Amino acid sequence: MEKFNIAIDGPAGAGKSTIARLVAGALGFVYVDTGAMYRAVTWKILREGLQAEQISDMIALTGRMDIRLVPGSDGQMVFVDGKDVTGMIRLAEVTGNVSRIASIAEIRNILTAKQQEMAQSKGIVMDGRDIGSHVLPDAEVKVFLTASVSVRAQRRFKEICDSQPDITLERLERDIAERDRMDEQREASPLVKAPDAVLLDTTDMTIPQVVDRILELCKLQV
Ligand code: C5P
Repeated sequence: MEKFNIAIDGPAGAGKSTIARLVAGALGFVYVDTGAMYRAVTWKILREGLQAEQISDMIALTGRMDIRLVPGSDGQMVFVDGKDVTGMIRLAEVTGNVSRIASIAEIRNILTAKQQEMAQSKGIVMDGRDIGSHVLPDAEVKVFLTASVSVRAQRRFKEICDSQPDITLERLERDIAERDRMDEQREASPLVKAPDAVLLDTTDMTIPQVVDRILELCKLQV
């Protein structure tokens, strides 16, 4: 099959990473989780102890960072300067700070350039917030995945309740709504549906139904 690129955007907890991974597997394409890149930068900034006002230090640090996304048996692994940070980038402290760091335009520019480079050879399924609208405006297939906030919080809750026993559904719903608000309202490439993206509201859809729908869209490419 001729290779092409697929952009999957949407708010937190819409199921982007699960869906993108399955679509990539079905097509033999490479999955790129751009949220993991923003999380990796946030993890490093927190680890270096940079304060909220040290924006230029954050940008310089991002520029120096070597971020690698490596397919693993249990999903995508993330390495920063050779260190495996796959688990650490999902910690609550990173999740609570990532949208603030992702609103810095220069940090976005650095990560956008890396993402565009990854997609150059085609055969990529990339998920994020600004992929169809900004990073890969020429992606052959663009999907905007969404679902109601309560369904998204319930899905996230099921995923993390074992590893974070203190978390409550109410708290998750609040956090997700706040992250959406920050991602939608930032000036630099906000979360937005690209005009030519296909909107899929997955509130009442199963995972296989969503994957099949996207694979159907891909057939139009062949
Ligand atoms: O996808 P995930 O929820 O892991 O993304 C974490 C955060 O990274 C998002 O809430 C958003 O602030 C930021 N992000 C972004 N642009 C992307 C991907 C993620 O701003 N393309």
